Amino acid sequence: MIRVAILISGGGSNMRALVGSMQGDHPCRTVLVASNDPTASGLVWAAEQGLATAAVDHRAFGGDRAAFEAALLEPILAAAPDILCLAGFMRILSPAFIGPFTGKKLNIHPSLLHKYPGLHTHQRALEAEDTQAGCSVHEVTPELDAGPILGQARVAVLPGDTADTLAARVLVQEHRLYPQVLRRFALGQRDRIDLG
Ligand code: GRF
Repeated sequence: MIRVAILISGGGSNMRALVGSMQGDHPCRTVLVASNDPTASGLVWAAEQGLATAAVDHRAFGGDRAAFEAALLEPILAAAPDILCLAGFMRILSPAFIGPFTGKKLNIHPSLLHKYPGLHTHQRALEAEDTQAGCSVHEVTPELDAGPILGQARVAVLPGDTADTLAARVLVQEHRLYPQVLRRFALGQRDRIDLG
């Protein structure tokens, strides 16, 4: 059984999709859901599923990123994950944190990388008058949102779209893409998939 830990910051809709996919003949199981926000509603849902959860409030470390990451690393290392999935995790992690998980850490980002790393991706796509938008799952490397892309899903930008309507349409695709990429990644498949 391949052990998967998932990091969230809020509702964790991607986490819920991942958890829901890891059953039956799936090679993975969720061993921890952790968050930088103790009030993240995704933690409540995960606990209701009987999953182990952990929360380390980054605000308690007054900007000391290293101390926060060391505290967050404790429950994660205790869960001994083989794969770490960032899913709506909104903190930037330093190379020191990424180090132990080199080659086994994934993130989902709501843009067609390498376009629009960082925040406000949908607003930026609208302002650029892009005709397509979407999401990407990539391996996490020290450079933000820049690791090898393992999968992408595309949606059309529609007339009248706002950042919110576009985000909602992309989120549906995120919930399709991430579980498919995780399963393939766990099976050692690294060739990229593209969902329409
Ligand atoms: C999603 O758009 C995800 O791509 C981004 O955060 C948003 C919320 O994710 N990283 P979730 O619902 O918490 O999984």
